[in-house]
Amino acid sequence: MDQQDQAMNLESLERVYTNYSSVYDLTFGQAFDQSRESAVKSLQLDPNDKVLEVGVGTGMALPLYPRHCRIVGIDLSEGMLKKSKERIAKHGLDHVTLQRMDAGQMDFEDNAFDLVMAAYVVTAVPDYRKVVAEMIRVCRPGGRIVMLNHFSNGNKFIAAVEKLISPMCQRIGFRTDLSLHRVLEGTTLRVTKKEKMNPFRYWYLVECTNAKNGRQRS
Ligand SMILES: C[S@@+](CC[C@H](N)C(=O)[O-])C[C@H]1O[C@@H](n2cnc3c(N)ncnc32)[C@H](O)[C@@H]1O
Repeated sequence: MDQQDQAMNLESLERVYTNYSSVYDLTFGQAFDQSRESAVKSLQLDPNDKVLEVGVGTGMALPLYPRHCRIVGIDLSEGMLKKSKERIAKHGLDHVTLQRMDAGQMDFEDNAFDLVMAAYVVTAVPDYRKVVAEMIRVCRPGGRIVMLNHFSNGNKFIAAVEKLISPMCQRIGFRTDLSLHRVLEGTTLRVTKKEKMNPFRYWYLVECTNAKNGRQRS
């Protein structure tokens, strides 16, 4: 883990997000509604696809998934999961189940999912390498791993500002200094789509094939 990783730990993150859960939808949650919706719509899921939503939060994306799929949402924060449960009940989402789990150490079998989605998560975990490795492990060979996230900018000036503000941002649960290159290096992920997303075209939708065991998307 680098210095930035160490500044976040699971216990304090759980506290931050649980404290934040009652206002999340009205603040950060709402600001990303549009990109969350276009990200989920673009997935083109097949009937019976099994989808894992990592860091499901208050479950804002859950009503957007087609009912012909099985969706499993995991999160570390009790407070966020409580809101997700309320949303599932409100919308009658029988195809969705939730579990409290650390994304860096999942209880699932290898290759259990066709698609793993992480929306605004890889920069909100203490150790993104562990989380990405786990997403790869639980996604089947040739399956898809999709990240909707901010990744640090190639522009030197903006990257310097992002690095500077990252320690402050970590107090409120995320970092700003992580590049897509760092997230992907040494992994079996092959980028198949990379699109800028709102707000401000500052976020990215990155879709990857899980090419472990040499398998490209099937
Ligand atoms: C910025 S929120 C994103 C929530 C949701 N995906 C959305 O689109 O609104 C990040 C979420 O990741 C969760 N999280 C952070 N670290 C985690 C970990 N190690 N395991 C599971 N969830 C984690 C937080 O509790 C929080 O709900």
